[in-house]
Amino acid sequence: MQNDTFLRALRREPTDYTPVWLMRQAGRYLPEYTRTRARAGSFMTLAQTPDLATEVTLQPLERYPLDAAILFSDILTVPDAMGLGLSFAEGEGPRFERTLRDDAAVASLDVPDMEKLRYVFDAVSSIKRALAGRVPLIGFAGSPFTLACYMIEGGGSEDYATVRTMAAARPDLLARIVDVNARAVAAYLREQIAAGADAVMIFDTWGGMLTAAAYRRYSLASMRAVLGALAADTATRAVPTIVFTKGGGGWLDEIAACGAAGVGLDWTVDLAQARARVGARVALQGNLDPLVLLTDPETVAREAIAVVEAAGPAPGHIFNLGHGIVPRTPPDNVAALVEAVHRASRRAR
Ligand code: CP3
Repeated sequence: MQNDTFLRALRREPTDYTPVWLMRQAGRYLPEYTRTRARAGSFMTLAQTPDLATEVTLQPLERYPLDAAILFSDILTVPDAMGLGLSFAEGEGPRFERTLRDDAAVASLDVPDMEKLRYVFDAVSSIKRALAGRVPLIGFAGSPFTLACYMIEGGGSEDYATVRTMAAARPDLLARIVDVNARAVAAYLREQIAAGADAVMIFDTWGGMLTAAAYRRYSLASMRAVLGALAADTATRAVPTIVFTKGGGGWLDEIAACGAAGVGLDWTVDLAQARARVGARVALQGNLDPLVLLTDPETVAREAIAVVEAAGPAPGHIFNLGHGIVPRTPPDNVAALVEAVHRASRRAR
């Protein structure tokens, strides 16, 4: 590996500078992404065609000296392979044809045949070949609970009312869904690792809306099960893992003990306090407010340096945003961000 700074930081080893990658670094803020997507015709075709997924994965790395690539795919490929029928309507969020709301639907849910997701693993191998050891490749999956949110509601939701009422009234149904999802996610990440992923991240976008008790039971426990399965397998145990619960700042101690090498933080968390709380247990990833990227290069650089300073001198910080890049981000601001993080952190070493 020519640049393993990201992997070293994830293992909390000293690095010459703070590595940086950005959630949704390949996406609609890049005109070249929009062109490739138009050529593909739809987001799903883009994700399901390994050559095109490789092309868009590499686009941000051609522009910026990022320290990691992330597989171009989506978390909802897993429920799609479970037969729920995923589509992305133009300008809207994801939609499932079928939802999981009653006993019969939940009882029929099962771990999908991983061959249905072969296109993802083929994309991982293809991206690894194209990267030729430049930087590590991050694989990913949705958390069992976040996948359950989309599977139960049939798409995104303002308040996830069906999920939250199910957690209270039918805990048995929600428990069965997250249990099947945990086994599916473990198998899915195992195959991404077999295809060449150098690290894997679990995106728990919606765990933060739960009560503390429900978070522990439905989200954290199922992520722990996934990580436990990877740690128990000699083929996967050496690959470092990251968990990111958006809105999970209040439960940082418990999250830091879940078995992941790194913990992602959203922008509401005080990074210096977070480091003081977790000590040397885990690497921390984050946490610039993504909307800062809508300002100007000077403001972006100043705010990015404040994040680097908050992370402190201890090893084990990976710079990222607190959530994904928004589509109207000016690409030049991303260049200013990466440059500022590298320069300021090098100087502080
Ligand atoms: O970070 C990366 O560059 C890798 C690619 C990636 C995508 N989705 C591509 C994508 C990753 C890691 C994801 C994860 C994902 N997908 C999450 C978890 C992280 C998060 O953002 O909280 C979630 C909740 C989803 C579900 C999803 N996929 C939604 C809600 C949407 C529509 C909203 C939107 O931003 O358009 C998607 C579609 C999607 N996934 C796009 C991309 C680039 C946009 C599709 C398009 O080109 O129109």
